[in-house]
Amino acid sequence: MSERRVALVTGSTDGIGRATVRALAAAGMKVIVHGRSKVKVDVTLATLAGELPGAELEGVSFDLGSLAAVRNGAAQILERLPVLHVLVNNAGIFATERVFNDQDVELTFGVNHLGPFLLTELLLPRLLESATTVPSRVIDVSSIAHARGRIHLNDLSLATAWTGYAAYAQSKLANVMHALSLAERHEPEKLVAYSLHPGVISTKLLRQGFGPIAGAAVEAGAKTSVRLASEEIASEPSGTYFSDGVATRPAASALDPSVRSGLWDASMQLADL
Ligand SMILES: NC(=O)c1ccc[n+]([C@@H]2O[C@H](COP(=O)([O-])OP(=O)(O)OC[C@H]3O[C@@H](n4cnc5c(N)ncnc54)[C@H](OP(=O)(O)O)[C@@H]3O)[C@@H](O)[C@H]2O)c1
Repeated sequence: MSERRVALVTGSTDGIGRATVRALAAAGMKVIVHGRSKVKVDVTLATLAGELPGAELEGVSFDLGSLAAVRNGAAQILERLPVLHVLVNNAGIFATERVFNDQDVELTFGVNHLGPFLLTELLLPRLLESATTVPSRVIDVSSIAHARGRIHLNDLSLATAWTGYAAYAQSKLANVMHALSLAERHEPEKLVAYSLHPGVISTKLLRQGFGPIAGAAVEAGAKTSVRLASEEIASEPSGTYFSDGVATRPAASALDPSVRSGLWDASMQLADL
């Protein structure tokens, strides 16, 4: 059996995720490329195989905006991967209109938080049993935008307050809370969880959400995820939030225990767990 450590990076057909996969594969990890489009997953796999001879890569495609598709995708992953050490919840969108997932949940919240929440819960048993002398990891790619977010516990789909930015910021605040909640719920010897702001990075999402502003290269955006996924010893405590690679205190709103537990309960209910 392969001794390589195994990482799944969601949303790795483009942007920061694709750069994360490339760096992890170059560092000798087995990496699973994920995207919503099978064609884009196959193109990414072919490109990376050409660039990195000897890399061990696999692909899986499913839409994080559909809870049924997430369940199906997680079942495929569990069937194919006897071990999984790292889950990087990287996929994300910035929606330009208020649309919904298959559970009538607003899509930004669905893709950026609820789909990854369900995926993480379904993969947790495999992550936990794959922990060795080093803990398995969940890495949530959030954003500095979390500081502008508010969790609308009674209106997560933002019927009354939707703007693209409000939905994005709420979902990114949910990412920080998710990592903090996982850190609270799991022994750090078995599983550590982190969240991070990758920097302002030139990608499709940045253009869609924020217009033609110049960002840094995707390789710079991948750096923190790559370090946290591949370092032998998890040096910062589980739950740490990183901004541009530096361990940083997240916004006070992320630390509110009652909102965080409300979000956890609502997510469990919405994901039918
Ligand atoms: N770029 C920045 O400046 C910045 C700043 C802060 C945080 N972030 C965060 O960084 C992460 C990566 O974003 P990025 O900037 O690299 O964006 P990107 O280039 O647009 O990449 C997003 C990835 O997510 C995938 N994806 C989108 N919707 C999906 C769905 N419904 N199901 C499955 N996969 C889906 C995309 O697939 P396709 O290839 O099919 O589109 C793509 O692979 C996001 O979580 C974002 O919030 C980015």
